[in-house]
Amino acid sequence: MINFTRNTVLSKLFFGTILALMPLFLEGVLAAPPGIVPYMTNCSTCHQTKGEGSTNLAPKLSNRIGKIASFDEGRRYMLSVVFNGMAGRIVVDGMPFLGVMTPLGHLKDEDISGALNYILSLQNMPQIKPFTPAEVKAARSLPKKSAPQMTIERQKLIAAHGSF
Ligand code: HEC
Repeated sequence: MINFTRNTVLSKLFFGTILALMPLFLEGVLAAPPGIVPYMTNCSTCHQTKGEGSTNLAPKLSNRIGKIASFDEGRRYMLSVVFNGMAGRIVVDGMPFLGVMTPLGHLKDEDISGALNYILSLQNMPQIKPFTPAEVKAARSLPKKSAPQMTIERQKLIAAHGSF
């Protein structure tokens, strides 16, 4: 009997605590930026959790790369980096950077759009049009590009729209 009462009290405490914490949990989930899960799973090891990048591993993406997502060639460039990967010397924030990104075309359309949308959420620029799975699907069927082609594409983008 004593045990029963004790268990009842304990279980009330347990469920009471869970109920009390529920709003906090929901708030965390609802406030989570879109695409955080596919980004954390597939990109953050190299580009880090807030897109801050890592010296000698992967360039910074936050407050930088979203600038090119506001025009079509830039969006196509972001998608082709994911499908083709990238390697070679690039300049980021005025500093030379040399690294290798493996192609990630095996990911699902919605995971790629999600990861890119997470990167957009790291910008100081409001209202950049989010990527859609349909946009990713269309880019998937484009011809594959080599690492040197990707570097040339990046240089063309900078020549036309300024550095990012
Ligand atoms: C294995 C590490 C690694 C992973 C995982 C990775 N990247 Fe990269 N990423 C890089 C490196 C390194 C570069 C720069 C390549 C170079 O130096 O030429 C890069 C470049 C980029 C660029 C172009 C940056 C620029 O300045 O032009 C984008 C966009 C990008 N990555 C997005 C992603 C996304 C989205 C994911 C996840 C779906 C991802 N990356 C996963 C290492 C990685």
